[in-house]
Amino acid sequence: MDFIDAIKNRQIKIAVIGLGYVGLPLSMALTKAGYYVQGIDCNAQRVESINNGHSNIIDVKDECLQESLKNDLFNASTEYSLISNVQAIIICVPTPLNKAKEPDLSYIIKAMKGVLPYLTKQILISLESTTYPGTTEELIEGYVEKEKGWKVGEDFYVCYSPERVDPGNKKFSVENTPKVIGGSTQKCLQIGQTLYESFLPKVVGVKTTRVAEMTKVLENTFRCVNIALVNEMTMMCERMGIDIWEVIKGASSKPFGFMPFYPGPGVGGHCIPLDPLYLSWEAKKYNYFNRFIETASDINSNMPYYVVHQIGKILCQQGKSIRKNKILLLGMSYKKDISDLRESPSLEVYELLKKQGASVEYYDPYIESFNYKDKVIKGIVFNEETIKQFDIVVLLSDHSNIDYNWLVEKATLIYDTRNVCKDIENHKIIKLGQNIEGMYLEN
Ligand SMILES: NC(=O)c1ccc[n+]([C@@H]2O[C@H](COP(=O)([O-])OP(=O)(O)OC[C@H]3O[C@@H](n4cnc5c(N)ncnc54)[C@H](O)[C@@H]3O)[C@@H](O)[C@H]2O)c1
Repeated sequence: MDFIDAIKNRQIKIAVIGLGYVGLPLSMALTKAGYYVQGIDCNAQRVESINNGHSNIIDVKDECLQESLKNDLFNASTEYSLISNVQAIIICVPTPLNKAKEPDLSYIIKAMKGVLPYLTKQILISLESTTYPGTTEELIEGYVEKEKGWKVGEDFYVCYSPERVDPGNKKFSVENTPKVIGGSTQKCLQIGQTLYESFLPKVVGVKTTRVAEMTKVLENTFRCVNIALVNEMTMMCERMGIDIWEVIKGASSKPFGFMPFYPGPGVGGHCIPLDPLYLSWEAKKYNYFNRFIETASDINSNMPYYVVHQIGKILCQQGKSIRKNKILLLGMSYKKDISDLRESPSLEVYELLKKQGASVEYYDPYIESFNYKDKVIKGIVFNEETIKQFDIVVLLSDHSNIDYNWLVEKATLIYDTRNVCKDIENHKIIKLGQNIEGMYLEN
């Protein structure tokens, strides 16, 4: 039976390497479609927890994971040897930046070293990790050809299919978001596309793996640049005394040619702050310096500094200071309704305030504690008595499970960086971008 028929008859087994925000939801989507999935993760604790039915990923319910485990359609392990009987491998390992803000591809390299001894001929390898154009060619296709002496498109098949999952998004999941895929050869694309089409509603084939890689970085660069644009407009509007939130509301009424993006304390997560820098780093090899990406990253990474500067100004207007007064940060995750702290601008705000000698604490319904300089920082008990002790509450993530009316009533002062209090009329609320010069002197 050929590969395409084997896919159609669910006669292939699949390995998913890396069982995090991307790999675990993908594994579940595959098992729901009737595939057996061998999950591989190098983190033994994570593997144990998954095999015990605890997902720890917001988009995968424990019951769904338990169902797959119970039906013997899924198993997690640290042992690469278990992939020796699979016909397809999907790689979903991290692609962070190193300290010098350069791409760190070591996770993909390690994953490929791990799978290499167990590859059998005719296997399909699909990379889903976000990366710059050329990675699949070099680290998957080129590596296997060199180490095994096989020819891509004949002895094995290679694709790149970027993941677009948006953790916590209640409308779009892995299962209803169109997927893009590029193959190393036409046959690779045909096989890869057949596999993805067998469990997803819409798969868009593009000509090469480089095009598919570039598609993903373009999408995230688009977000990064537009967020930076609105962040810059916010700082400009502050100076001009114009309410940016009202401006966005007005502009959003245009049914074409405008798409709202919202300002905030900075960008976080594993994608928006990192992926565009993957592209600009690679482009430099071609002597191309992408000014949009550099400018946007610069503006977005300065937002926590802007927020802290504003906190200082607000306190100063009241005859108080960052150094002497008590500050509560509300929401540490990088976006609403999730517990992901990766690259969160709230952490940066926390650190900047600490450096200025602030007495700063936090509360986040999703985060019990986080590590800061070898210390475990725990959230406060969130009640009327504790809230009243703070001179200012800074809203950094717009979690839906907070009663903001109640909070505004109890708090001394609120600095709202997400406009989450937009429907509450109260002089205690100061919004990101609001011109505060002299506001207390006038009162
Ligand atoms: N998180 C998102 O929202 C998102 C969205 C789209 C794309 N992506 C991309 O997907 C990739 C994975 O991101 P993620 O958020 O799932 O990361 P993650 O950190 O949540 O999960 C990665 C998992 O891979 C495991 N791992 C690392 N190296 C390994 C190895 N050599 N062998 C086996 N397992 C290994 C880790 O232990 C971890 O459990 C990244 O390239 C990211 O940019 C992420």
